[in-house]
Amino acid sequence: MRVEEISTWVEDAQKAFASATDLDSLKAARLAHAGDKSPIALASRGLGSLSPDDKASFGKVIGEAKAAIAQSLADATAVLEAERDRKVLLEEVVDITLPVNRSHRGGLHPISIIKNEVSDFFIEQGFAVEEGPELESGWLNFDALNIPADHPARTMQDTFFIEPVESGMVLRTHTSPVQIRTMLTQQPPIYVVCPGRTFRADELDATHSPVFHQVEGLVIDKGITMAHLKGTLDNFARHMFGPDVTTRLRPSFFPFTEPSAEVDIFFNNRWIEWGGCGMVNPKVLATCGIDTDVYSGFAFGMGLERTLMVRHGITDMHDIVEGDLRFTRQFGVGL
Ligand code: DAH
Repeated sequence: MRVEEISTWVEDAQKAFASATDLDSLKAARLAHAGDKSPIALASRGLGSLSPDDKASFGKVIGEAKAAIAQSLADATAVLEAERDRKVLLEEVVDITLPVNRSHRGGLHPISIIKNEVSDFFIEQGFAVEEGPELESGWLNFDALNIPADHPARTMQDTFFIEPVESGMVLRTHTSPVQIRTMLTQQPPIYVVCPGRTFRADELDATHSPVFHQVEGLVIDKGITMAHLKGTLDNFARHMFGPDVTTRLRPSFFPFTEPSAEVDIFFNNRWIEWGGCGMVNPKVLATCGIDTDVYSGFAFGMGLERTLMVRHGITDMHDIVEGDLRFTRQFGVGL
């Protein structure tokens, strides 16, 4: 081993590293000039077999040579890596002004979202969810609910009758017939909510739609009082409108409840009518074969469109009905 030879290795290595054109060719040069089988590595490993004097002098030279090779490798690596990064930045640049081909994720309509929200709230408290048909018998929609034959709701102006008219079928005008269906088929205790689509012969305008949604609540058990109704509505209102909402019951009339009330909420600094409620009329219980000496119950019903409109400050029913995605998306996907 000669000192001149060692400086040739250093020069060879420096030349090879400097002439590498990319990181791949630099890697090949590194293996050849600084790898395990490179002359400098072999010489370094051979130091052990030299005499102590030679070991000291060659050791120093080899050490310096290794440092020089490592330095020139580091320099070349830095240059080539910077070059690669520059290239990558250029090649992988994204033109954010290009038009994109977006496919939209589907989502639930806000009415479906609020319907699920209501159902989930009551399910948590042990209620069941019942759904009846949208095409309903007039007996279940009216008579069983103690709505007399001459009631104004039963006119052609208010109700969609189905041909042949003698069939007595109507598009249900409210979700209350689901109460009857439930009481006819289940024994108390009954704790149900019945969300669903309802129909009335109204023109579509800012506050009406011929097709809309309601949710009905029905509880039949021993010892049920109006206090239970009020507590249930308070909790329900707080869930829908936030913890600060207040409810108020205002005396009213429905043929299927006695006594009956309107439930109002104090929301955004004003009283707003939310729905109807009351103690289930004993006549209705008797029609369904429920022993009125043992059981009593309460019921309530409110519009889902109305609930949504009040809660979100929606002023035009058209927005809910038309299905414009710019409106719907504001409510999130809700899946
Ligand atoms: N069915 C009534 C309507 O459509 C709403 C309603 C009022 C439902 C009172 C009830 C109730 O269950 O107790 O206007």
